[in-house]
Amino acid sequence: MTIRAVVRGVGHYLPARVVPNSEFETLVDTTDEWIRSRSGIEQRHFAADGETTSDLGANAAKAALADAGMEASDLDAIVLATSTADLTFPSAATMVQAKIGMTNGFAFDVQAVCAGFVFALANANALILSGQAKRVMVIGAETFSRILDFNDRSTCVLFGDGAGALILEATEGQGTSADQGILSTDLHSDGSYRDLLYVDGGVSTTGTSGHLRMQGNQVFRHAVEKLAETAHTALDKAGLGPGDVDWIVPHQANIRIIEGTAKRMQVPMERVVVTVQDHGNTSAASIPLALSVGKARGQIKTGDLLVTEAIGGGLSWGSVVLRW
Ligand code: UT7
Repeated sequence: MTIRAVVRGVGHYLPARVVPNSEFETLVDTTDEWIRSRSGIEQRHFAADGETTSDLGANAAKAALADAGMEASDLDAIVLATSTADLTFPSAATMVQAKIGMTNGFAFDVQAVCAGFVFALANANALILSGQAKRVMVIGAETFSRILDFNDRSTCVLFGDGAGALILEATEGQGTSADQGILSTDLHSDGSYRDLLYVDGGVSTTGTSGHLRMQGNQVFRHAVEKLAETAHTALDKAGLGPGDVDWIVPHQANIRIIEGTAKRMQVPMERVVVTVQDHGNTSAASIPLALSVGKARGQIKTGDLLVTEAIGGGLSWGSVVLRW
């Protein structure tokens, strides 16, 4: 008998305010055409004043609980991926825990920037496989609008706010790649690339939250190469290949990165869940948002083989292979 972390529910939440590309034409020297053609983004959502990352995460968590037919008290743990927590501490995860009325179990944040959800999934899987938790809520929630420099056209047009959540449950499997649940994980970081993507503030430096800085074309170069490589490695670990993939559910940073990675993986774009046009880059929230939207669209079905892959600040990157 093999224990697998199997998906029981999924949900997402997007703030009400939709921001079309045209709004940036009045802020910086850019055009809707540039943003669409260079990134694939058409619009993004921005949180309202006073609406926090844990508010977004709690709404996504409630949607996932409803999808699973579970109560908050059924959960043993919350693992929340974010780089934009409400406060320096406590964790956004414990704030979500309080907002959904869960007083049992434990909750903590994971910080791996845009790769955060993949890292959180791998950690939740490890909690389940080691017997420390049976039911884990895994959340990606971000308010990147709070750390954007709205004078910097090379970054402010790319990011958005949102949250997605997944509930994993320990389930007996056969130990084969036909099992439902997480089949393999592959994680990497290389801190020598710090300057490619970082925030220029923090508790022990400036005492401010700072603004996002990115050498976009350098990150782009690393992304296509490293994402295809980690996805191949994760598939290999699961004893599977590109031909077995029903859906790539990638981090949604740039349609050209998504297409380039799919091409390197030899998976056609018809088998890729794409939401970047509607959400922009929501960092750790982008994959769970895409999972939830992909299911709602009728793309992702029970039994489908999914590969998620993401890269972000650090650099940190990785991939998770799971059967829905
Ligand atoms: O999620 C975490 C990981 N992050 C990413 O994956 C982002 C990765 N990078 C990218 O998505 C792309 O590199 C960008 C969308 C950020 C930029 O696309 P690019 O094709 O790499 O363009 P570039 O940075 O090489 O810039 C090309 C030109 C530059 O002008 P010059 O120097 O050629 O005259 C920029 O100044 O585009 C200019 N530019 C803009 N023009 C109009 C940069 N931002 C804008 C803008 N509007 N918003």
